[in-house]
Amino acid sequence: MNSALKRMLENKPTLNIMGAAFGDEGKGKAISLVAQLYDIVARFAGGGNAGHTMFTADGRKIVGHQIPCGLAAGKICVLGRGELINLAAFFRELDEAAAVFGREHLPPIFVDEQAVLWTPWHSILESYLETKRGANRINTTGQGIGPMAALHRLRLGVLVGELLYDENFYLMHRLRQMFEALEPIFSDMVGKKILRPEQIPTPGKVAEMLFCHAEDLRSFVCDTSALLSEAIEDGQRVLVEGAQACGLDLMWGTYPFVSSTMATAAGAALGLGLPPQTFPNTLLVTKCMPTRVGAGPFPSEIGDRDEMQIFATTHKELFAAGEKRDVFLRETLARINAGTATPAETAQYFQVLGDERGATTGRGRSVGWLDIPWLQYACRINGPFGLALLRLDLLSGLKEIPVVTAYKLGDKILKAGVIPPPWRLHEVEPLIKRCPGWKENIAGAKTMRELPENAAHFLSFVDGSLPHYCDLLLVGTGPGEEDMIFRGV
Ligand code: IMP
Repeated sequence: MNSALKRMLENKPTLNIMGAAFGDEGKGKAISLVAQLYDIVARFAGGGNAGHTMFTADGRKIVGHQIPCGLAAGKICVLGRGELINLAAFFRELDEAAAVFGREHLPPIFVDEQAVLWTPWHSILESYLETKRGANRINTTGQGIGPMAALHRLRLGVLVGELLYDENFYLMHRLRQMFEALEPIFSDMVGKKILRPEQIPTPGKVAEMLFCHAEDLRSFVCDTSALLSEAIEDGQRVLVEGAQACGLDLMWGTYPFVSSTMATAAGAALGLGLPPQTFPNTLLVTKCMPTRVGAGPFPSEIGDRDEMQIFATTHKELFAAGEKRDVFLRETLARINAGTATPAETAQYFQVLGDERGATTGRGRSVGWLDIPWLQYACRINGPFGLALLRLDLLSGLKEIPVVTAYKLGDKILKAGVIPPPWRLHEVEPLIKRCPGWKENIAGAKTMRELPENAAHFLSFVDGSLPHYCDLLLVGTGPGEEDMIFRGV
């Protein structure tokens, strides 16, 4: 690890890694880069909707959803109270990790005793709501996240520890309460022939599904707030892994096209049950070409969302190494540089080049230009000391790099850090500056000295656009954990 980065993080006993835009920023990569400086990696929100690809030190791949990325680095993993837990998926993930590492080499993993549990009813409710929304559907990841968060707030959720409470009757009672609240919706679905009655599990059946995990679960469960509090008192260092990103935060994202939990830095304290001053250090992560899946506003988007989601599945051959991919990338880049590529072709180029497909859903991600006003907003909400700008290497070969520098709404240019409410975001006219590009392949660069002058200028421009308290510190130049430049301050 870069010694200057190490020195900078030494005085940060806790560190939040948060996404700036609409998810899939590469937070996992930032985490694996710094994980060796921390003892514990904790999740405070999200659930199976998150997806991260992790690589072990010897290059083996694991895809994780609920267990923090710290798993691959052998760090203690905490699934905090704010995380939504699907037990069957948790144990599947654990088995997959055990198959790669060997069960005896897995680090300690703790699940909070009062985290909310998934039931099949949550997924049934989610598909009902999505169907009802029709053309306005959110295009969720299908993990029951919204209903889990909503029923929790209605005081109808069931919690991890309730499953372990000796009185089976207690959980049954809580499940019956949830079922009674949902029954009118289930009846409507049966009446409309969306579901057959036997497809709706009874409270007894759901209890059975949950209880089959109870004994395996027991050793993982504790009060993770107390655990973290004690660990921090003892001098252990905690890395906080954000899930999703600012634009998908329930309150600060593009509502209603958001996820249902917290995705900004303040959520760390709430979701882990520690005082806010425990987590003052945030590293914000974004990609040079941000992406979005699902529905919702994306001011700097290049192509059409639906087309981009389908493109990845209808053009699988372009995502595998080979001549077809090489020819496609070469020819499309030439058209982009000649100014003859359509927005759809430009977006497809970056989707293929960056392999922008979801780890959870496999959907193709829609791509946009770097969006400075959005980044300034994400800084205002998260208060980061630093920004990690990933995937600079994807810009190599472009004659010019368009960057959104301001939002114009009507005849007004909006102030830095301020964005319109989500229902007016589509009215925004993104003002674009074209930065000069570079031809050199910068993949794997590890120092600023290795970058061409225009790449360095591009980075200075981004740095200069950030609020005074945030510096552009890290620049990703390739998929490997060490393909990273530490710019320093
Ligand atoms: P949900 O979180 O499954 O309810 O989905 C709500 C919205 O957030 C949808 O547009 C999803 O595509 C999006 N979303 C949720 N999790 C992620 C993620 O980890 N990466 C990118 N998008 C996500």
